[in-house]
Amino acid sequence: MTIRIQPSILSADFANFESEFQSTANADGIHVDVMDGHFVPNLTFGLPVVKRLQEITTLPLDVHLMIEDLDRWAVEYARLGVFSVTIHLEACTDVLGTIRQVKAAGSRVGLAIKPNTPVSALKPYLEELDQVLVMSVEPGFGGQSFIESSLEKIRETRGLLNATNSSAWLQVDGGITAHNIAAVAAAGADTFVAGSSVFGSADRNEAIELLRSAAQSTI
Ligand code: DX5
Ligand code: ZN
Repeated sequence: MTIRIQPSILSADFANFESEFQSTANADGIHVDVMDGHFVPNLTFGLPVVKRLQEITTLPLDVHLMIEDLDRWAVEYARLGVFSVTIHLEACTDVLGTIRQVKAAGSRVGLAIKPNTPVSALKPYLEELDQVLVMSVEPGFGGQSFIESSLEKIRETRGLLNATNSSAWLQVDGGITAHNIAAVAAAGADTFVAGSSVFGSADRNEAIELLRSAAQSTI
């Protein structure tokens, strides 16, 4: 299993994204949290900023949309040419239609569930997905603690993906550290978002490699 580490720019210096990206060259991608102050109680940035982020880095951008009205907005992010766009099941009316629009626009597509949404809700869409995101904190803020019951949800999701021979990536976001990443990888995740544990370290690339080797140690 390939392990991917994606630092979340939610914990980066918002006035210096260019140098922040340069400090995470070992990353497999950059996780970009778009928040609208409605779907989640926090506000970050929207399309114009993501457009510029796409222009200033060669690292693949993994855009995590925590906004309302995804039926309207998700495809606009895909049209920027970002690597992947992840939508929340809870913020979408026409989930299948939106998934297909994102893919048609050329981005990989992910489907995310919040901690209280059951894994079974993903089932109707699994075949269409490039990525599943199991949130391991309530979305909205960085630096929260990993919710332990997420491990069972990750195991269940891995079981569903294996049962359908899916090659979709299983991403986990929230509270990932060098101390818990091995257990999360053992549960079946292969793609790890890490905000505070990477950007809170003096040497970001060292933090990324520490996470990567800890995850690899159990698989
Ligand atoms: C939270 C965001 C996360 C956040 C993770 O809603 O989706 O991507 O940045 O931050 P840490 O790794 O600090 O929990
Ligand atoms: Zn995120």
